[in-house]
Amino acid sequence: MSDHQPEKRYEGKAKILYSTADPDVLLTYFKDDATAFNAQKKGTIQGKGEINCTIASVLLQWLETKGIPTHFIEQPKSNEMLVKAVTILPVEVVVRNIAAGSLCKQTGLKQGTVLPQPLVEFFLKDDALGDPLLTRDRLMLLNIVTPDQLQELTDYAQKINALMQEFFVSCDITLVDFKIEFGTDKNGTILLADEISPDTCRLWDQQIADPQARVLDKDRFRQDLGKVEDAYQNVQARVLAQAKALQ
Ligand code: TMP
Repeated sequence: MSDHQPEKRYEGKAKILYSTADPDVLLTYFKDDATAFNAQKKGTIQGKGEINCTIASVLLQWLETKGIPTHFIEQPKSNEMLVKAVTILPVEVVVRNIAAGSLCKQTGLKQGTVLPQPLVEFFLKDDALGDPLLTRDRLMLLNIVTPDQLQELTDYAQKINALMQEFFVSCDITLVDFKIEFGTDKNGTILLADEISPDTCRLWDQQIADPQARVLDKDRFRQDLGKVEDAYQNVQARVLAQAKALQ
């Protein structure tokens, strides 16, 4: 038996990271806490921790089988994930297939416009600055990534998008957009990190045409659309069914 006392390493808005007996491994605890608009809106989504941890575990494991290196090791409890320790790159990578959210606000594109090709965007991971959109030159200026790493991140983002679209289509869900984060391990290898869940994706039910009723993600919380828990449970059920079908 290990006599390791877990130490809190980092607490974010939705997760807490703890040390484990192995310095290369961390334990992520998924919270039910929900925030939006840079934590100006706060609440709780009952059961979210377990649901997001489960959905993220399924998707990260599946992506790993498709050649995407991730930080996932195992899901020892429904709201806990063991992950490889990485240094998170301070950039949020967003991939969009359909116009929504900040893209519409900042460009005037109509919500729901199908983009001619997936759009990969980079935002600075800095709450104090409001996570601003970055240009390639700003990424280089801030020394956040090297030109090679930027190419690697872009290639991974495109590949992950194609794979996730394939997965969600099988769940009768349209993958509108999503945010992912990457980290580097002690060898400098880039791994897909953080989570992929209804907190970090826009997901629309393909069986429903109504623009509000079809929303199965955190926009239900952001926009006070109600039935938030139902939507998260619905996504979990479909993702688990698809994972089973793929076995
Ligand atoms: P946006 O349209 O607000 O820029 O969001 C794009 C995608 O990124 C959407 O699926 C929600 C997700 N997202 C996060 O996961 N965390 C965030 O802090 C923000 C702003 C967006």
